[in-house]
Parts: sequence; structure tokens; C-alpha cells
Amino acid sequence: MTQELTSPSPAPRAPETDRGSRWWRDAVIYQVYVRSFADSDGDGIGDLRGVRERLPYLRDLGVDAVWLTPFYESPQADGGYDVADYRAVDPLFGTLQDADILLRTAHDLGLRVIVDIVPNHTSDRHPWFQDPELARQRYVFRPGKGPSGELPPNDWESVFGGPAWTRTDRGDWYLHLFAPEQPDLNWDDPEVHAEFEAIMRFWLDLGVDGFRIDVAHGMIKAPGLPDIGHGRQAQLIGTQVLPFFDQDGVHAIHRTWRRLLDGYGEAHGKQVIGVAEAWAPTPERLALYVRPDELHQAFNFQFLNAPWQAGALRAVIDASIAATASVGAPTTWVLSNHDVVRHTTRLGGGLDRARAATLLMLALPGSAYLYQGEELGLPEVTDLPDEVRQDPAFFRGRRPAPAADAPAADAADTSGQDGFRDGCRVPLPWSGERPPYGFGSGGSWLPQPADWRALTVAAQTGDPASTLELYRTALSLRRRLPGLGDGPMTWVSAPDGVLAFHRPGLLCTVNTLDRDLAFPAPGTPLLASTPVTVNDGSAVLPGDSCTWWAI
Ligand code: GLC
Repeated sequence: MTQELTSPSPAPRAPETDRGSRWWRDAVIYQVYVRSFADSDGDGIGDLRGVRERLPYLRDLGVDAVWLTPFYESPQADGGYDVADYRAVDPLFGTLQDADILLRTAHDLGLRVIVDIVPNHTSDRHPWFQDPELARQRYVFRPGKGPSGELPPNDWESVFGGPAWTRTDRGDWYLHLFAPEQPDLNWDDPEVHAEFEAIMRFWLDLGVDGFRIDVAHGMIKAPGLPDIGHGRQAQLIGTQVLPFFDQDGVHAIHRTWRRLLDGYGEAHGKQVIGVAEAWAPTPERLALYVRPDELHQAFNFQFLNAPWQAGALRAVIDASIAATASVGAPTTWVLSNHDVVRHTTRLGGGLDRARAATLLMLALPGSAYLYQGEELGLPEVTDLPDEVRQDPAFFRGRRPAPAADAPAADAADTSGQDGFRDGCRVPLPWSGERPPYGFGSGGSWLPQPADWRALTVAAQTGDPASTLELYRTALSLRRRLPGLGDGPMTWVSAPDGVLAFHRPGLLCTVNTLDRDLAFPAPGTPLLASTPVTVNDGSAVLPGDSCTWWAI
């Protein structure tokens, strides 16, 4: 039994009539990590029915769309990013009918739904990989080096640590940029292209509004699979073009998919989108993924990785906006997801800084992604015992855990996986005094902290000082004020450590320092992450705070 948790709700945006057809340009999209959102059947694992029952909560939060992480049939070697059947729902999460009902319910509530698609690799249990002859066409197999082929074909390392190759009992090797249970597909095979187009059509026919494309920078590898020449390669991801990531050849695939999405949308009177999870070394290379004939959005991980310093933030904001503007696309902001340390912890300034960062993000032009639980101000869980951890990277040559108070630059090095991703995947606290806090009736697959009582949705609802109500107010203002979302922004001069910028009709100030600063009040405070005081035209901006001003 789940409790209906609602608060006064903004009017839902009807999917096809809101803000014109280019809805993604300023949409706020909420990432649901299905296994940790809500458990309807008491097995301790979140499921599709749990998501469906809680959709009114997301409607009331004020988001435009929901992104569901993979719920497809999978041995769960990597939380479902190892797909064995792309057209089936894993029994852990429900049935295809549950997916269908979820989609219909979401649409009735005015919410769009995006699903994950994983084209770089499949599960090793996928029927293609299970058939040795077929596998050698559809995946990347090579003979080994050394006198008897006992050495891997090249020096590539897996993002999860260790070599990117595993030897088979036939003596050859297959490539897996992630876990050995995730063999990389061979995108030189036309059947692979055809299959992914068919999978997309399958989910479009069921009603999805778009796809989050996993490892969108990975499908094409440099010809000849050249060595890199040194180790610690995972830490280079996102800093340079590697022979296995961000190869120019991936763009042809995205162009084909854009034609498919546009064609489908036109035929069905809707706009369906693709969002790239792409690690590119520069904003300019990332922008290539959102050229007019490619995908619609690409997560801005350089913003996510920026330290909490005014100069660094301004530089990354300027570079990102300039790069995406040069191809006519919006910028897609993000602070947290299921692969990185939650920003309450990562930015190193606790809840105050996290709330300020969120208001900054939501005031920037473009679209934004929220990760479940950030609206509750959840911190990263840093003390999970090793025996409950499930992140595959944890079990393979990992880096040391980031300290809770590590400087952002260290803690936020998210490009190669550190093995500690379970800490942001702890199931959500909904209500009640003790675990599982309304997540379900049967415990939770990762233990929740004993002190999350005050962080539940129920505890925060109606408390104007809560992070949940801050998010609700921010999202409802974002929907009401035409100056927010897509459109121009202009920097205003401000003291060191402060960011100040205009959006039409408003001004946003961010004090990134940890102490109060005086600032001439530019207008009336509309919303502040920490209460701001104004006296005789002079404002005091609290340390680590962001304020939206009506001007
Ligand atoms: C993406 C996903 C991550 C997964 C990896 C391999 O980075 O976000 O969770 O482990 O791809 O599919």
C-alpha cells in the first residue's frame, strides 16, 4: 500500500499543447532510477507499478517529463545496463503491461516519459552473444597477441577497471568497455543498426516520448583498434578523444536516429527526442551531438564536474551556452545522476550549497535534469558496508572512495567509474519514522540510513523551509515566468565570488563564498535558497546561497 502524497499542484502541461512543439528546449526532466524509487510488491526492489503509483507526486513537483533507467530483461550485472532482451520487462520490475499502464497514466497527468536505450553493449546473456557464430559478427572479437594469443588484442582498459578484453574458451578475445558481462556490439554490422531502429520503434509504439542514449559516444571504435600507450585510461574519458570514445563515426548513427524520431513524431503528431549521455572532451565536441540533424539534448557533464567557484562556474556556463548556441541547441544542465556522488555531498558545502546550485541551474537558459531524491536534499550514503554493494566497478580495480568532504575537483571526477555508485542509489524515503520509510513493505535492496526520518517526502511536505518545497516553488515559478527556461541571459558585474545574471524580468545572484556578502538589492526576492535580508535597498547574500529577484 502506498500513501498518496500530494500538495497544491500546478496545472499540468498537456503534452502536445504546451510552449510550442520544441518542448525539450526548456523541459525539466526527472530521472527515476527504477530499482530505488518505489517498491509496490514488497521484494525490496523498486518497480514500474511503484513508479506509476507515485506519478502524482512528480506531477505535483512540477516536472515536465520522467526518464526511466533500464527496466528491461537483464541479469543485472550493471543495474540493468546489461540488457538481455530490449523488448521485455524484467520480472523484477513488472511486465510490459505495467510499462503500458505507466505510460498512459503519465500522459494523463501531463508528463512525458523517456526510456533508456543501451546501444554500445548488450548483456552476455543476449541471444546474439549466446550463439558463438552470431556473436563473432555482432560483437568485437579479435585474436590475442603473444605467441599463443595469450595477451589481449590491445591495451584498452575497461571504464570499470581492469582490461577491456576477456578471452573466450575458443581462445579469442571480446571487447567490453564496461563489465565482462557487457560485450561491446560491432556497429559495422548492418543487422545491429536495424535491430536498434526496430527496438526504438517498439517503444515508440508503446508511447514513449524519447530515449536517453547510454554511452552515445561509444559505438564506433577507431579503425584497427590502436593502442593508447599508457594506463589509467578511464580518467582520460571526457578529457580527450580516445580510440574507443567520441569517435566521429558515432554521429552518422545519431543522424539516422534523428530521422527515425522526426519521422515517427511527424506521423504521430508529437515531438519525440533523444538525449545523449556522451563524454566529450570539450563543450564544442559535445555540441556536435546536438546539431540540428542529430540528438535534441546532451547532458552537460562539464557543468556537473565544475567546482563551486564563481569563476569556474561562469567559464563553464559561458562555454557551454556558446557551444550549443553555435548549433542552435539548448544547453542541458544536470547536477546529479545515478553514476555520480550526489551534489549535496559532492560540492562539499552540504545542503546550503546544494540548494544554491540547484536554483542556479534552474535559472540558466535551457533544459535541466533532476535525479530522484535531490529534491529531498539527500546526501550521498558514504558508509554502505562492502557486502551490500552491487556496483560492478566496486569489484574491479577501483579508485579509493571520495571523502565526503573532498574538494569538488577530486570528488567529482566522474568520468571513469570509481566503484562507489551505490551511495547515490539508496532507495527513496517517502514517509514514516524508520527504514524502509514507505519505499515498500519489504525492506530495501540497499540499506537506508537510520537518520533519514526528517528527509522523507511526508516530513518535508508543507514545510516552507524544506528542500522539497524549495524545488516545488522553483519549478512552479519556472513554469509561470516567461523569463526562465529557454531564452537570453546576460551577466551583471558583481563582487568576487558572486555570480549575477539577468533573465528577462529577473535577476539571479549566487554567492559562492561561505560568508555573507553585501549587495545592492536589485529588486524583490522571489525565491532564495537561504533567506536573504534586504534593508534600505541593500541586501545581504548569505554564504552559499542563490536568490531569484523580480526586477
Ligand atoms: C552509463 C550508465 C551507467 C552504466 C554505463 C554502462 O554510463 O549511466 O550506469 O554503468 O553506462 O552501461
